[in-house]
Amino acid sequence: MTGSALPADLDETTVTDAAVASFDHTPDPRLRACLAILVRHLHAAVREMEPTIEEWEQAVDFLTATGHKCDDTRQEFVLLSDVLGVSSLVENINHRKSPGATEATVLGPFHMTESPQRELGESIDEVGKAEPCLVTGRVVAVDGTPLPGAGVDVWQADEDGFYDVQRPDVLPPGTGRGLFTTDDDGRFRFTTVVPSHYPIPTDGPVGRLLLATNRHPYRPAHIHFIATANGHIPVTTHIFVADSPYLDSDAVFAVKSSLVRDFHRTDDPERAARHGLPNPFMHADIELVLEPARGAGAE
Ligand code: BEZ
Ligand code: FE
Repeated sequence: MTGSALPADLDETTVTDAAVASFDHTPDPRLRACLAILVRHLHAAVREMEPTIEEWEQAVDFLTATGHKCDDTRQEFVLLSDVLGVSSLVENINHRKSPGATEATVLGPFHMTESPQRELGESIDEVGKAEPCLVTGRVVAVDGTPLPGAGVDVWQADEDGFYDVQRPDVLPPGTGRGLFTTDDDGRFRFTTVVPSHYPIPTDGPVGRLLLATNRHPYRPAHIHFIATANGHIPVTTHIFVADSPYLDSDAVFAVKSSLVRDFHRTDDPERAARHGLPNPFMHADIELVLEPARGAGAE
């Protein structure tokens, strides 16, 4: 017989090295390194689980269904990464903050439409059936310097736990959203409603996973923020409502105690009048602290 010699048979103990080596000629060194790590850890997990053929097929079916659930407005793979804690882990790795800076947390799937540009003091609640809540705040640098002209992008669920995009037949597009620019003192203010806790979407494979594992799908009540300012690193974060259910068991592992704020009933007729609110009113005050951009400020 002619031709090249057959390689030694691969078995349970040698297939991992062979699979890693198959990527040895990947020109991009980062891709090569990541694939090697992925293959080694995946093989280690499979070796530890020892799945049956049927179990492996079930796993593949689950991932297939996850892909089928994705479209332009639904990203089931991101949701899977969220409930496995991977989105939160990636966020934490990429935003190791200096002390004092506002901690980052997951973007989530509902930042899918552009927030309407709004004037300071405007209401982001275009429905007006729940008790109004005043949100005041400031964007500052880590040394406390106010940041005028900073962008504050806000989005939130309503008092029933729905984003505008989830109930397009009932909620006007843009309600619960606003894009504000801070004043000369770095301050922003708007009125809204206190958001409710809500379930992440459960009508897909991720929902079935939660059900099969006796996990609830809820996120504690929160308002999303993205703050941006010249010369500073933007922060994507949430502010959580202090007395919300599920603060200790967020379905997507995004709660940090530094991001929890009191939303309290305030009795201040003069302030209520100034903001066009009935007295008493709900109020939360929020400071968003940005780190300098790398290389910024070094003169
Ligand atoms: C959200 O807070 O909007 C969210 C984050 C992760 C998964 C689902 C929703
Ligand atoms: Fe949310």
